[in-house]
Amino acid sequence: MKLRIALIGTGVIAGHHVRLNAEPDAIIFPNDEAEFVAVLDVNEERARAFAEKFEIPRVYTDVDELLAKEKPHIVCVTTPPQSHAELSIKAMEAGAWVLCEKPLCGSLRELDAIRDAEVRTGMHCSSVYQFRFGGASRHIKHIVDEEIAGKPLVGTCHTTWYRDPAYYEVDWRGTWASELGGPTMIHGIHAMDAFLWTMGDWTEVRALCSTLDRDIEVEDISSASVLFSNGAIGSILNSILCPHERTFLRYDFQQGTAWTEDAVYDLNKDKWRFKTLDTMDPEKVQTFKTITDDTVTKQPSQLKAMVADYKAGRPPLVSGPETRRTIEFITALYKSAATGRPVKPGTIVEGDPFYEHVGGTFAQNLSTI
Ligand SMILES: NC(=O)c1ccc[n+]([C@@H]2O[C@H](COP(=O)([O-])OP(=O)(O)OC[C@H]3O[C@@H](n4cnc5c(N)ncnc54)[C@H](O)[C@@H]3O)[C@@H](O)[C@H]2O)c1
Repeated sequence: MKLRIALIGTGVIAGHHVRLNAEPDAIIFPNDEAEFVAVLDVNEERARAFAEKFEIPRVYTDVDELLAKEKPHIVCVTTPPQSHAELSIKAMEAGAWVLCEKPLCGSLRELDAIRDAEVRTGMHCSSVYQFRFGGASRHIKHIVDEEIAGKPLVGTCHTTWYRDPAYYEVDWRGTWASELGGPTMIHGIHAMDAFLWTMGDWTEVRALCSTLDRDIEVEDISSASVLFSNGAIGSILNSILCPHERTFLRYDFQQGTAWTEDAVYDLNKDKWRFKTLDTMDPEKVQTFKTITDDTVTKQPSQLKAMVADYKAGRPPLVSGPETRRTIEFITALYKSAATGRPVKPGTIVEGDPFYEHVGGTFAQNLSTI
């Protein structure tokens, strides 16, 4: 069966969902497993130009009409952040699985509403976290889970990117109401998601946030220390103030270190370096250093995995309770920075301003729904 995919929001990132690197010829479903049948945007002209560029047959401006007429199996949501939760729930209620751009939602309240919709409809809603879907990411996760180089002890997750003031001239950026956060929620979310997934459950976070050099409401830098249930300690940095852009992930185990070099958006096989102690078992050294899967850390890798999951009738990797890991961590990071206190998982509940909006008191009591 060829799955029908519809896409909502035909802006900058949308092309990266329908073609590898948004290149019109780089088809991601050459074997007819799935096809994009329709696109929608509130700006009809933009939607038409997009459909023409990527040879997608039908264009809509009304979501209910698209869902009713196309009955898509999967809907990709690529609109600005504040619209994600509502569109994702609507699509699930119409019988579709959802692959929604990050950040999936703006609060734990919305996350709970998405989870309720998953349970009610039997559909799945997955957040785009393309860094998890690279072959190298799976390799590192395997190393941690199987303790190939011993226990993980120290983790580093630094997203030091650069966004100039002009970047924030786009109307939905830079505010708690519409972008929902700064580099913690929008840029560092990729590496943090991969890092948290790899290291396993976190048990405490202590953080700092500031707005140092951009004229925006949200933070332009955050840093945090995180404790994991396996005992490891991690260092996190999220910033858009760094002209020398890098995404730096590093895992130190009892017997070896794995780290990225010269990576920014792609954390593929060629970006990883390894160092081991001379005393480590040679067979394990070989396993530790050998990445066999060269799947790239891009949206099509996640969408292809979702199509395969749909056909196999199994939930996608990032859906259900698994979507909570990163959003809850980010909420806790903001709360720790706002209160100056450590925050543990499971402690942000109804009645807490940080339950209503990921930015809590930073967001001046805005509610996302
Ligand atoms: N995963 C990644 O690497 C990555 C990279 C960049 C952006 N993003 C995310 O992708 C999302 C979109 O970012 P962008 O840069 O493409 O934004 P954009 O402003 O370029 O495009 C958004 C599009 O959505 C349309 N739109 C807005 N509200 C809508 C609605 N309610 N219904 C239908 N269409 C609507 C707009 O008209 C616009 O065409 C954001 O959440 C952003 O954080 C992800």
